[in-house]
Amino acid sequence: MEQTFIMIKPDGVQRGLVGEIIARFEKKGFTLKGLKLVSVERSFAEKHYADLSAKPFFNGLVEYIISGPVIAMVWEGKKVVLTGRKIIGATNPADSAPGTIRGDFAIDIGRNVIHGSDSVESARKEIALWFPEGVVGWQTSLQPWIYE
Ligand code: TYD
Repeated sequence: MEQTFIMIKPDGVQRGLVGEIIARFEKKGFTLKGLKLVSVERSFAEKHYADLSAKPFFNGLVEYIISGPVIAMVWEGKKVVLTGRKIIGATNPADSAPGTIRGDFAIDIGRNVIHGSDSVESARKEIALWFPEGVVGWQTSLQPWIYE
């Protein structure tokens, strides 16, 4: 089954949006496979966003990610990478539809509350980076009520 890496950024944690965000993924029917509250080092944040290192906003982005603890999660389910991105909404909250997490809770691109892997391949890399210890192997007994 497909997995994705979801991170609630420091603003989401500080603003008390953790429960609300987790509830949206839970209610959709996805399965929580890993979760931890972590303060990341600068070098770790730079590694996570390595693909963006040439961008003008890179330093500000790294400062933001290390400015407070984040919630790192692994969610599992059919098409969870793509659907997770839909639940999160467009990168710039000015463009995110109401009903999405960023559309409902964010205004500025540099404070957009949440990260979600953008492909199955980057999910695999991000889960390996954030959860080197692995995740919990379990299945909800509600599976037959979620999948046909
Ligand atoms: P990106 O990977 O393009 O978006 P997403 O998070 O939706 O996958 O960019 C990573 C983060 O960088 C994004 O969530 C917010 C920040 N960012 C800026 O601060 N300014 C920008 O112009 C862009 C494109 C992104």
